[in-house]
Amino acid sequence: MERSFIILKPSCLKRALVGEIISRFEKKGLRIVQLKVARLPREKVEELYQQHAGKPFYERLVDFMTSDRVVLMVVEGRNAIDVVRRMVGATDPVEANPGTIRGDLALDKTDNLIHACDSPESYEREVRIFFDERELSE
Ligand code: CDP
Ligand code: MG
Repeated sequence: MERSFIILKPSCLKRALVGEIISRFEKKGLRIVQLKVARLPREKVEELYQQHAGKPFYERLVDFMTSDRVVLMVVEGRNAIDVVRRMVGATDPVEANPGTIRGDLALDKTDNLIHACDSPESYEREVRIFFDERELSE
């Protein structure tokens, strides 16, 4: 079964939206494989967003992601990566469709509530930054 790697950005805990968001994934039928709260070190966020280094929004994004605690999770289900991306919605919440997490609950582009991997390759790369093998083998 395919797995997706997700980060609930710092505003999810601040705005008490963690339950709302996790509930959407559970109701969809995705199974929670792992779930943890952490304050991310700068190096790990830089590794996550390495393809964006040097872009105009990069520093703001890394500052934001290290500003407070996040929720890290792995979910599992049929076509989990695409399903999660469709539930998350477009990067800019202004353009994200109603019914999506960003479309319903966010407005700011940096603070768009959620990160999700976008391919099997990015899943493999990203999940290893934040979870060790033992946590994923259950
Ligand atoms: O998160 P997603 O995969 O939808 O977007 P991305 O292109 O991988 O960019 C990573 C994050 O950078 C986004 O979630 C936004 O928070 C931020 N970003 C931004 O602030 N301005 C942009 N023009 C593009 C991305
Ligand atoms: Mg991305």
